[in-house]
Amino acid sequence: MRVGVDRREATASSVDVIATGFVERPEKDEGLPRSLAGADALTGGLLAAAWRRREVRGHPKEVTVFHRPDGRGRLALVGLGPREAVDVDSVRRAAADAVRAFRGRGARTIGFPLGAFVVDGVAADQAAEALVEGSCLGSYEFTRYRAPRESGVEEVTVFLGREHAREETGIRKAVDHGQAISDAVLWTRDLTNLPADTATPERIAEEARQLGHDLGLKVTVFDEKKLADLRCGGLLGVGGGSSHPPRLVVIEYPGATRNPKTIALVGKGITFDSGGISIKAALHMADMKFDKSGACAVLGIVKAAAALKVPPKVVGVLALAENLPGGSAYRPGDVVTTYNGKTIEVLNTDAEGRVVLADALGFVVDRYHPDVVIDLATLTGACVTALGDDTAGMVASDDGLARALLDASAVAGEPIWRLPLRDLHRELVKSDIADVRNSTEITQAGALTAAAFLESFVGRSVPWAHLDIAGPAWTNSATRKYQPSYQPIGATAFGVRLLTRYLEGTAR
Ligand code: BES
Ligand code: MN
Ligand code: ZN
Repeated sequence: MRVGVDRREATASSVDVIATGFVERPEKDEGLPRSLAGADALTGGLLAAAWRRREVRGHPKEVTVFHRPDGRGRLALVGLGPREAVDVDSVRRAAADAVRAFRGRGARTIGFPLGAFVVDGVAADQAAEALVEGSCLGSYEFTRYRAPRESGVEEVTVFLGREHAREETGIRKAVDHGQAISDAVLWTRDLTNLPADTATPERIAEEARQLGHDLGLKVTVFDEKKLADLRCGGLLGVGGGSSHPPRLVVIEYPGATRNPKTIALVGKGITFDSGGISIKAALHMADMKFDKSGACAVLGIVKAAAALKVPPKVVGVLALAENLPGGSAYRPGDVVTTYNGKTIEVLNTDAEGRVVLADALGFVVDRYHPDVVIDLATLTGACVTALGDDTAGMVASDDGLARALLDASAVAGEPIWRLPLRDLHRELVKSDIADVRNSTEITQAGALTAAAFLESFVGRSVPWAHLDIAGPAWTNSATRKYQPSYQPIGATAFGVRLLTRYLEGTAR
């Protein structure tokens, strides 16, 4: 998507579509609001007529198209939803709705008059950035294995007009920012959407190497021999059943300040989760190619962090393995020894995410002494049951870190919800024969017993947050009915927008 800013009024340009936002009308209103008078003029009064008929309402996802009688293209009215609920995300959604409405409809260029999206609580620069993000993310399609079905909008312009021309510098910055984040999100989606025959642990490690090469970042890949030297029995156990051996990848962004803080980001990278010997049911098993979403997001965050030169140092760690059954697979009853010497009694080979993360967390804490550790993992079905598939579960050991993540979440429009970790969960992961067990006798609070397990590998001395992204990492044909239009079917790259914002706001 090409993205631009234009100082003129949208009406002075020759874009194929001018898309104007407006808030939901009250039940009774008095004719066309003044803010839509200019748009009405473009339609030669057709808009006012439609307004009188109450054909346009301003509901979310509502896009009404008028053909301009002057033959110079189309005008689209895009609903922003009820006034009291309009926020930055409403603008992001509206942009995606607009761009998607013109797929296969002969529109190559679209222009948004910025003033129409600057509403209560949404400043001009925020609106401009949301328009860019919504357009870029909403028009995404995964086209590696088929041609695009229809041609869509290729160019987005934010029109400042007289109203906002003086804010040009700030708005250009916001637009560039939105584009950098969108680039990272789309790159992450492309990687995450690859099926497991292609996106093997070796291949994702190669992608990390290439990314590091392109950005000038240090990348270290530990193959199965080096993992054995490091005593990473978790990764080797989980990856044992696959002919594609496991990898631990470290990618380092040095930070943009003197003596930066070090933020460790750890991603679950199960390239396919069959469940292993504790095999899953056939229905929906194909979806488990998404189980590498956390690791892919970590790469995307590092990409955005480098592009935006965020202040802190970032250490991205990817725990990559394929969980398959087979003659050399790990089995229920096995005890594996992890990087930091702690032992795990494996009772269910399908609780594999926490087993590979045990090595990665122990490793990064020991080697990098980070100031903060954040992990991203499609860890439990229980978290999806608890929160649904639009919201990630957060467990945080530190209130300040939790607050910072919640704030970043609100700006990014990626919802998270904090869950309480208590001693009873820690009790439940104790094993009779090892330090911890990977699955519990009592199956309630599965998202929290999983978190308690992870906590035992981070320790209690470093601020840590765990994000269970099993719900929001993926959109399917059922969930996309209520997901915003900027989350098309497949990988969402959840966490990239959230954690990039977090890193930008992190004190040096
Ligand atoms: N990758 C899954 C989590 C998952 C399951 C995500 C369903 C989305 C939908 C994870 O490895 C897993 O299998 N977790 C088990 C844990 C259980 C065996 C303790 C689960 O959630 O059922
Ligand atoms: Mn599993
Ligand atoms: Zn899994």
